[in-house]
Amino acid sequence: MKILVIGSGGREHALCWKIAKSKLCDKLYAAPGNGGISETAELVDIKADDIAGLLKFALEKKIDLTVVGPEVPLVAGIVDKFASAGLKVFGPSKSCALIEGSKVFSKELMNRWGIPTADFKVFDNANEALKYLDGKKAPLVVKADGLCAGKGVVVCKTIASAKDAVNEMMVKRSFGDAAKKIIIEECLTGEEASIIVVSDGKSVVPLASSQDHKRIFDGDNGPNTGGMGAYSPSPSVTDAIFKEVMDKVIYPVISGMAGDGKPYRGVLYAGIMLTKEGPRVLEFNARFGDPETQAIVPRLKSDLVELMMRSIDGKLENYSLEWDRRPCVSVVASAGGYPGDYEKGIEVKGIELVKPLKDVVVFHAGTKSGRRATDGSSTFLTNGGRVLNVTALGSDIKDAINNCYNALGKISFDRMHYRRDIGHRAVKVQN
Ligand code: AMP
Ligand code: GLY
Repeated sequence: MKILVIGSGGREHALCWKIAKSKLCDKLYAAPGNGGISETAELVDIKADDIAGLLKFALEKKIDLTVVGPEVPLVAGIVDKFASAGLKVFGPSKSCALIEGSKVFSKELMNRWGIPTADFKVFDNANEALKYLDGKKAPLVVKADGLCAGKGVVVCKTIASAKDAVNEMMVKRSFGDAAKKIIIEECLTGEEASIIVVSDGKSVVPLASSQDHKRIFDGDNGPNTGGMGAYSPSPSVTDAIFKEVMDKVIYPVISGMAGDGKPYRGVLYAGIMLTKEGPRVLEFNARFGDPETQAIVPRLKSDLVELMMRSIDGKLENYSLEWDRRPCVSVVASAGGYPGDYEKGIEVKGIELVKPLKDVVVFHAGTKSGRRATDGSSTFLTNGGRVLNVTALGSDIKDAINNCYNALGKISFDRMHYRRDIGHRAVKVQN
């Protein structure tokens, strides 16, 4: 099969790494890909949101399977466009991807189907939102309705900061139309976990549980990022909790969408808060998590291409996946300054020292192939905020953490930053 992966992050590198191992894959393309992906796939210089350009390429090359990594093209309807051109594409349709594309839509679905989530109120007017806040107690969470590249959620410890968030979103319009509507919701507390499943519209195949670390600094301090590391499985997600999430969250969405005439095919990602009262949904995503995928995929023994084809063809009934029982940890090395401003084009050193290590893999995110200033030889240069995901399996979570940080210690670039405590919560839960 000729396969095209759309996207350029660590998630897409992990997907390409696994797809390239499939006996079903004869030729792999990635658009636009990154430095690391160029080692397993042919890079195509088309951006992930250029749907017309991607469609033209896929038709020309007679691509047998297209895998969509990021949310923007999904929410824009890439799956509908490819499918109506007769192409097989893995991911939800536009009307299903709205579960990620509009938080108002997803909260209303949850209410309709009795899916446990934080209490909330929707506003389309700043004055009303500000007046509402006068009568409330902090902490509260303010969320923009639409896609904001992970920046549209503000957890507010005071009413003053909640008002600032409302002003930023609705008066200053920092997120444009994505915050035409906002949600103000109850702040939940507990451990977070990600439950990611693949559906064919009727049946559901769960992936292993995982957890990411969103804050930039150790101890979950500092601003939110796209994710600074992840591990799988999440020991907080016991079998009983997993079953509860499947029964109360995942199946109601899949059967509800089918009942609405919008069968949900592709990845459904539920971000869950494990509260004292039980699991509550924080958000849905219509795609694989990043960086969760980097910690999940190395544990997957089954063929990822087969899973995706079965999702497209409606053949997931009685299908299940085989997993490596060993835990996996993935730590992000980011550029100094991220999630604020950062430099690009810095040489990444030491990746070749990690390659021979067993059970370790480096998934690239913001890198590109380049030349050393000294002698013109080929190397990788930084090309984004999150640069690499150093990923390792281990006999237990502590061993995986050690393997991961041992490998990370061999890699360096100017102003490299990474968290030293990825997986710390899992160690605590297990002890
Ligand atoms: P979301 O994009 O909705 O997952 O939000 C990003 C992050 O904000 C989540 O992973 C949580 O850490 C936090 N968050 C979102 N909603 C809530 C909530 N209702 N209570 C507490 N934290 C939340
Ligand atoms: N790791 C969170 C996300 O992919 O949205």
